[in-house]
Amino acid sequence: MPDSPQWVLTLARRILPSWHPLFVYGWRGKLIKEDEASGHQLISPWMVTPQMATAWQRPEIPSRQALVVDSELAALRTGQPPRVYQVAAEAVRAAGYAGERVVELGCASGYYSEALERLLGRPVDYLGLDYSEPLLRQGRRRYPHRPFLLGDTCALPLRDGAAPIVISGCVLLHVPRYADAIRETARVSSQWAIFHKTPVVKDGPTLTFRKLAYGVPVVEYVFGERHLLELFAGCGLTVEAAYPIGPYALPGVDRAASVVTYLCRRSPCGS
Ligand SMILES: C[S@@+](CC[C@H](N)C(=O)[O-])C[C@H]1O[C@@H](n2cnc3c(N)ncnc32)[C@H](O)[C@@H]1O
Repeated sequence: MPDSPQWVLTLARRILPSWHPLFVYGWRGKLIKEDEASGHQLISPWMVTPQMATAWQRPEIPSRQALVVDSELAALRTGQPPRVYQVAAEAVRAAGYAGERVVELGCASGYYSEALERLLGRPVDYLGLDYSEPLLRQGRRRYPHRPFLLGDTCALPLRDGAAPIVISGCVLLHVPRYADAIRETARVSSQWAIFHKTPVVKDGPTLTFRKLAYGVPVVEYVFGERHLLELFAGCGLTVEAAYPIGPYALPGVDRAASVVTYLCRRSPCGS
């Protein structure tokens, strides 16, 4: 079947590198669809488009994300919290949480405020920040008593040392200027920075992927762990604990990846 996208895709995968533009921009719009199933496509860093970096601001994301989040929240509310919520709470607990302000960067609709409060068993003074107005609108609807702030994690509208605990909430991986995002996270934290749900490979360089988040193409970085820890150290962040969340399957890549939450202690930059 020479006209079949499947046939073309199989042949193309044999003869072209996985980052070839054909796999990104599609062939008659059909190869892209085929790739939805596998999700990740390894690409070169120069292939990241501005649209991929701002994709999370798209208005169709909140309702699609709610379908996933609502089932996680239902599990949380019936005493079966997903591991990602448990790990976030464990990291906040390990930071000695005693009711101080917690800022979550990349908060989406703020559901971690509910997860933290339930799992820590105490009120949490939570502030959520995101660059997506539609996601924040959903957050304000769902948690009207919570403060939410519109902002970019690379240029935070917060003062130095604004909060003792700052959670970078699974956002670093979607930010082309991730080094700036780490610097800003460190700047606004007075004691602890938690980099939640960070995909890493043990050896080698940081990899760049295009993937679909709720059907929308986004950039995703899978960090070379050594590279990531160097970036942390350069911003005065010392890793105190690393919580493994699970292995991370990357189709077409023969390196083992995993998702990790890092709890970092903040010290003055350069010290
Ligand atoms: C994978 S979701 C994580 C949501 C939630 N924190 C969690 O862990 O489930 C990434 C979030 O980061 C936000 N985001 C992406 N790039 C951002 C940026 N440059 N500044 C602020 N938020 C950003 C997205 O809008 C989205 O809500």
